[in-house]
Amino acid sequence: MTRVLGIETSCDETGIAIVAEDNGALRIVDSEVASQAPVHAVYGGVVPEIASRQHTKCISQLTERVLEKAGPARQIDAVAATIGPGLMGSLMVGVGFAKALAYTWRVPFIPVHHLEGHIFSVFLNDPPEFPFLALVVSGGHTCIISCDEPHKYAILGTTRDDAVGECFDKVARLLKLPYPGGPSIQKAAERGDPSAVRFPRGLAGSAELGFSYSGLKTAVFYEIRRRPEILGDEKAVADIAASFQHAAVDALISKTKLALEKTGAARLVLAGGVAANRPLRERLNTELNVKVHMPPMSLCIDNGAMIAAAGISRLKHGLTGNLRATPNPNLPLFTSPPNHGGGFLPSSRRPAVR
Ligand code: KG4
Ligand code: ZN
Repeated sequence: MTRVLGIETSCDETGIAIVAEDNGALRIVDSEVASQAPVHAVYGGVVPEIASRQHTKCISQLTERVLEKAGPARQIDAVAATIGPGLMGSLMVGVGFAKALAYTWRVPFIPVHHLEGHIFSVFLNDPPEFPFLALVVSGGHTCIISCDEPHKYAILGTTRDDAVGECFDKVARLLKLPYPGGPSIQKAAERGDPSAVRFPRGLAGSAELGFSYSGLKTAVFYEIRRRPEILGDEKAVADIAASFQHAAVDALISKTKLALEKTGAARLVLAGGVAANRPLRERLNTELNVKVHMPPMSLCIDNGAMIAAAGISRLKHGLTGNLRATPNPNLPLFTSPPNHGGGFLPSSRRPAVR
């Protein structure tokens, strides 16, 4: 059995988990997520300095709790942490903490790219075979990624401007709905008519495998400016929310279909915070004729279990990092970890530290 501790602190969730692998099957031993959403909600979005402070406040306690659940024989074979992309201060909290634990326990430190973590969330409940396409949709990313073999990625399409989750958050703010915007828009949209307003679908009709969400956001802005009175009308807000959500999801579906056609891929992985969106999940299941692998709702939003799952796979493939790895807020999706040094030095070869 292999057990990896996973640490996620790239944005506004502190996620700590232990994932075990037994004969190829992954199991979450324990996973704790401390969401900072209520703290940032008063500002209408994430405040980076406050995020770092919140991670610092709760990371030790959450880790202790997870280790306690692991029982007396709490052997950990490696510590994995998100090394980027994300907020620099927040990443530094998780990476510094992970490296200290790895050093103390004499085990490898495994840097994990945040998007790779999201992709690996599906391996915890519905593992896909390779190759597959991944649609990764979050507050910071909107990408279609081709995954031909473990830890080999090619980005086929990405957003030119806003990420889809960012667009949900900004539109929610325009509609005076609470942060985070995704869940609030989805809830408001349940009572609305998705055909009430025809909003633009970014890059619709183009053969490009990309996304654009700033036009959709601006269209909602102008609709509200044209009819400001709707903000006091619950039904009108619900109609805008439903129409916006329909347009946002339409763009994801049509570009995913195009990518599947272009590549002939037989499997799709949906991951990232926006993967929690119910209409998106339902439509991908009914409108595509490929098998769609999705994480359960609890693993869509940032969490430590997805980082531990990616860490286990990297450990198995000999792709660990070393203690010189440093966070990178703009890290591109990597195939080998940055500063790849073949893992932590065995204790006999380790230099004395003074
Ligand atoms: O992956 P994640 O937790 O953090 C990033 O890596 O960015 O994703 C957070 C994003 C936020 O923009 C949030 O509004 C969005 O995911 N989100 C949703 C839903 N739940 C969360 N968007 C649409 N529908 C949802 N149900
Ligand atoms: Zn994320």
